[in-house]
Amino acid sequence: MSKQIPVVIDTDTGVDDALALIIALKSPELLIHAVTTVAGNVEVEKCTRNVLAVLDRIGYAMPVVVAQGAGKPLRRELVTARDVHGRDGLGDRSLSRRVSKRRHAAHAVEVLLEACERYGRELAIIALGPLTNVALAWKRNPRALRNVRSIVTMGGAFRVAGNTGPVAEFNYYVDPEAARIVLRSGLPVVVVPLDVTEQVVLFRSELTGRASSVDRALLDFVSDATAHYMEYHSRSEGFDGCYLHDPIAVAAVIDPSMVTTREVLVDVETQGTLTRGMTLAYPREQRSGRKTHPHVAHRIDRERFLSLFHERLWR
Ligand code: RIB
Ligand code: CA
Repeated sequence: MSKQIPVVIDTDTGVDDALALIIALKSPELLIHAVTTVAGNVEVEKCTRNVLAVLDRIGYAMPVVVAQGAGKPLRRELVTARDVHGRDGLGDRSLSRRVSKRRHAAHAVEVLLEACERYGRELAIIALGPLTNVALAWKRNPRALRNVRSIVTMGGAFRVAGNTGPVAEFNYYVDPEAARIVLRSGLPVVVVPLDVTEQVVLFRSELTGRASSVDRALLDFVSDATAHYMEYHSRSEGFDGCYLHDPIAVAAVIDPSMVTTREVLVDVETQGTLTRGMTLAYPREQRSGRKTHPHVAHRIDRERFLSLFHERLWR
């Protein structure tokens, strides 16, 4: 097997974040150095508790740093998504017991920058929530971030409607200033937008269909955590299942050939009222200037992703 990729996962641990975390922790291609939390789906304290709960639930034995980060966006008040992920961020029925692990005392931005210094070009940062922590790290030490392998961010909506108002995707709606800083930084950014993540659905029937073949306790946890999230999709999208936004961002690091990207100049609306957080791509401007632009995914190999997702989730 080729050398493991050292990874920091930055997450606003909601339900799809938790599924992404589980498959990342179970993927031998990745060395999860740290999990950092950022306010988004729910308040950052709940995100941190949810990460610790996931580590507990899957009995993850390897040393992994869990560090708490920004409690609010760079310049705006926090907007959460408890209608989607529940008040606790994990569907309001999966957090039964106290968690045994404890978070690291250091702030997430410190842990992110320390990982950049330690792993340099090998490090992949997987950002599953608003880009507040990543933007703070860039502002504090741009040189450290410039050398990383990649920054894969789940966010944006280019040729599809938004999921937070008509044009914005949630992560970039919550902190559009942070998204604009990171996407215009010239860093090696890969964007995994709704254009790709809404091409894949996890149907409830696929979970119940596994009852006999998988670890019952894990199935119960996944079923409890996704129930509220699926009910939201049933009401808002009309199907009995849910999107897997964040697991797709993790899969794009495990196997980059699973998604097709193109390099384009990207900007994020920060002044608009109706268009806050909207992402705009300027393909023709990509050849101007020396700065590298984000690589934006526009296609996914659905079958390959779903096969990897289920194989790792139930492993
Ligand atoms: O728009 C979907 C994204 O926003 C996902 O990362 C979800 O977890 C929320 O953070
Ligand atoms: Ca997320």
